[in-house]
Amino acid sequence: MSSKKTYPHLYGGREVTGTRTFESRNSSNTSDLLGSFYEATKEQVQEAARAAKAAAKSWAKTPAPIRGQIIGLIGQAIEREKESLSRLITREMGKTLKEARGDVQEAIDTCSFFQSEGRRLYGQTVPSEMPNKDLTTYRRPLGVVGIVTAGNFPIAVPSWKIMPALVTGNTIVWKPSEDVPACAYALAKIVQGAGLPAGVFNVVFGGGKDAAGQYMIELMDDGLVDKLAFTGSSAVGRYVGEVAGRNLQHPTLELGGKNPLVIMRDADLDNAVQGAIFSAYATGGQRCTSAGNLIVDAPIYDEFKKRFLAAVEGIRIGDPLKTEDVLYGPFINERFFQRWQQQYEWGKADGATLLYGKGRITDDSKPAGFVGDPNTGIFGWPTVWEGVKPGMKLFQEEIFGPTINLVKVDGIDEAIEVANAVDYGLSSAIYTNDREFAFAFKDNIEAGMTSINNTTNGAEAHMPFGGVKASGNGTRESGMWVIESYTYWHGVNDDVSGKLQLAQMDTAYVEPQAPVTVGDLF
Ligand code: UN1
Repeated sequence: MSSKKTYPHLYGGREVTGTRTFESRNSSNTSDLLGSFYEATKEQVQEAARAAKAAAKSWAKTPAPIRGQIIGLIGQAIEREKESLSRLITREMGKTLKEARGDVQEAIDTCSFFQSEGRRLYGQTVPSEMPNKDLTTYRRPLGVVGIVTAGNFPIAVPSWKIMPALVTGNTIVWKPSEDVPACAYALAKIVQGAGLPAGVFNVVFGGGKDAAGQYMIELMDDGLVDKLAFTGSSAVGRYVGEVAGRNLQHPTLELGGKNPLVIMRDADLDNAVQGAIFSAYATGGQRCTSAGNLIVDAPIYDEFKKRFLAAVEGIRIGDPLKTEDVLYGPFINERFFQRWQQQYEWGKADGATLLYGKGRITDDSKPAGFVGDPNTGIFGWPTVWEGVKPGMKLFQEEIFGPTINLVKVDGIDEAIEVANAVDYGLSSAIYTNDREFAFAFKDNIEAGMTSINNTTNGAEAHMPFGGVKASGNGTRESGMWVIESYTYWHGVNDDVSGKLQLAQMDTAYVEPQAPVTVGDLF
């Protein structure tokens, strides 16, 4: 069903319209219009942040268990709407229904976790040096949090930021990706509808560069946000970090990856092939955690390559709303496709060998597993490169899209060295049954996340998500770790002695007694 409606920004308890608009279309079938959305102006982004500021004090004073209850209600509402939200994700950005259900489930899991966090948010009681004095620590909210998210996980990744920020007592202004405004609108209605006071959760729509995304970053210079949480490219992440730095803020940065998946000589090859296929091609390779380099141990290289290529030839691709058993669907949009296509130039310049793949799928050029009409969206051939080595652009650069590099190594030491030879350090995986290989890998890999005998994906909602090197700035999403990102510690001295007693100076000092020399005793 096509919709001609134009959807408003949702901030300060109001629906706010504007003049310029942009459209959201079904990635698999661009004749299907989901709706139009207003493009936020700088003034509107600022107004939304001011609404968040106005609501901040009373939200921070709302008891955390009550805030947690609201998170619980949001989770129940998402669960009630799980199927329609999943279908909306698939329709808007093209991941399969199975993965879309996972995306929504991850948000539900996040709500379950943070619902109870409202009853924890532990501080400490600490013994004082002096009598009649209590030391305690409190977690305090930062104030207004700006959130900017990407389009590949439209429900899960925003929830990773929204739920912990809310339960810790912050108010929010969120600018979702312009690739998935319909999913964002649905999530925003659910969040606001769960009973949040006006102004606590505000949403503005629009593009990134020279648009709402840029204005969100500028909110730090405007003095209108206390923190920015960002998921996106390392280039934009560095810019966010620079602006945050001059404002003495600590942003959350979840950035790119070029994730290695190692297959050792002793691996269960069938399991490894399945894991490699999913890591490389699921979500059309458009996850931050998608594998970039398949690092294969020399003794099994030829056998792995044979089985992997056979599996690649069998991949089913198409519109996931029409055919449920496809592995992946279309590119999220033209922009992703254009970036992905550059790899063919890079590969040629690098001197790598193209083993499989021919760019865009068309009527005249389609793999056996393609189902449906290739012209209704943009679909890409699963692509496989061979002879890829550290230093090559194909090896180094993150490429969002269905493509993978085969990299041959000899032994675990070289495998780890090559796995680490990228600027990024988000996710990583190894297939092996040798406990020493597995141990060496987890002990030496430069990554925020590692799987042993599983894909580079599949981070659970209560584990720390994030990376090292160019993949982030050390912040983590999810679980108990993310709480650090949305609170500061307040240390309180409470003195009831009724007199001036000074730490370090008036503290009782225990004089050493006569020292004992054991040698004198015997
Ligand atoms: C992302 O790609 O931005 O581990 C998030 C995974 C998912 C989350 C991915 N649970 O692949």
